Amino acid sequence: MTALQDVESFVKTTHNESARQAFISALRKHIMVDMRENLRGHYEQDIKPAYARTNGSFPTNGEEVRAVLDDDLLYQMWGIMRYNAQEMTWASVQEPIERSLPDMIEIACMAAKSKTAGGSLSLNPKMEIPDYVTAMDVHLMPGCFHSEFARDDVAQGAVLSYGGRVFSGGMVHRRGGGGGGVVAESIAQYIKHKHPGFVPRKILDLGCCSGRNLFPYAKIFPGIEAYGIDVAAPVLRYGHAMSEYNGQAIHYSQQNAEALEFKDNIFDVVTSSFFLHELPVESAVQVFSEALRVLKPGGIMIHMELPPNSECDPFYACYLDWDNFHNNEPNYMDFRNQDMENLCIQGGFGKNDYFQSLIPNYRSFGEEKFAAFVRGEVSAPEHGNGASWFVFGAYK
Ligand SMILES: C[S@@+](CC[C@H](N)C(=O)[O-])C[C@H]1O[C@@H](n2cnc3c(N)ncnc32)[C@H](O)[C@@H]1O
Repeated sequence: MTALQDVESFVKTTHNESARQAFISALRKHIMVDMRENLRGHYEQDIKPAYARTNGSFPTNGEEVRAVLDDDLLYQMWGIMRYNAQEMTWASVQEPIERSLPDMIEIACMAAKSKTAGGSLSLNPKMEIPDYVTAMDVHLMPGCFHSEFARDDVAQGAVLSYGGRVFSGGMVHRRGGGGGGVVAESIAQYIKHKHPGFVPRKILDLGCCSGRNLFPYAKIFPGIEAYGIDVAAPVLRYGHAMSEYNGQAIHYSQQNAEALEFKDNIFDVVTSSFFLHELPVESAVQVFSEALRVLKPGGIMIHMELPPNSECDPFYACYLDWDNFHNNEPNYMDFRNQDMENLCIQGGFGKNDYFQSLIPNYRSFGEEKFAAFVRGEVSAPEHGNGASWFVFGAYK
């Protein structure tokens, strides 16, 4: 290989593999959107009234709903289908990735040397990976984020990226964002609209994985210096290869968000997405205190997360907490049962500096309506199906 190739479109699937992946995407959409609505209807029409007849009132939280639904045949069938679709998602990409793996590793090694876009990759093989990552295959993804089976391995990065497309392929709302994530695009636009005078120069994404979520920032805040850290080397190698090919100068390093190696007061924005719920609560608090340390005065910490249970109706809380029990995410419910403001304060942020908001998905809401949302003229759509994202954080 002489020129850097696109690690993101390198894997070639056979006709049968493509058909299988398309089926799984459609199945997942059916489970996550159509069946969920049927399940909600069943809950409202049958479960809730029956619960009230026995207990004298409707369920008040997700745990009360789950206690009933765990024995319900429709919920059980939905759960079995969801569990199997999750396993099939990863299985559907593993074989084609294995066939291409030696070449993908070569691409990543080339990217690490070539510095095509001006980013960097710094790995620390001696770093201890926290047991909440190593103890189980998070998201049922075999090998989790961190496992390495070959020298300079990128396989887990590829499985996550290609598998991610199968995972959300049937759901249009999860795509787009100018090559980066729609979540990060929405957060970056929120920062820009909310604080028009704020021009971030340096951003840090925690648990960045492929670093894709940093792409929109480069577009929305031209000239911004982008840093991404993650504990898992394969996802960082893969992400670095992807961003170098795409002309994105991102600085990746293998670090634990609980003990960052950066100096104090250097970042304007510290962000994360789909990250904190994977940590034990005390680790999340430690992450906040590290974020506070590395932020410049006036900087913003902003995280996207699934909404806390206090923000969800009992059925939706139960629905979201499914992952806690069946998707190898044992901290999910505990984290979402917390008061985020309280956790930020425990991390050292001031009470008056906390904020939280449900923000619309920028891509589907559109610029005009999004601006109107930030001005307080329209509300964000209800959470679910990617229509909006829950964000919280604090100012330093
Ligand atoms: C669910 S993924 C989220 C990836 C990405 N932020 C996104 O939005 O798609 C969580 C990531 O956090 C990383 N991670 C877990 N614990 C970490 C820690 N203590 N420090 C840094 N990264 C961590 C994992 O390796 C994984 O790549």
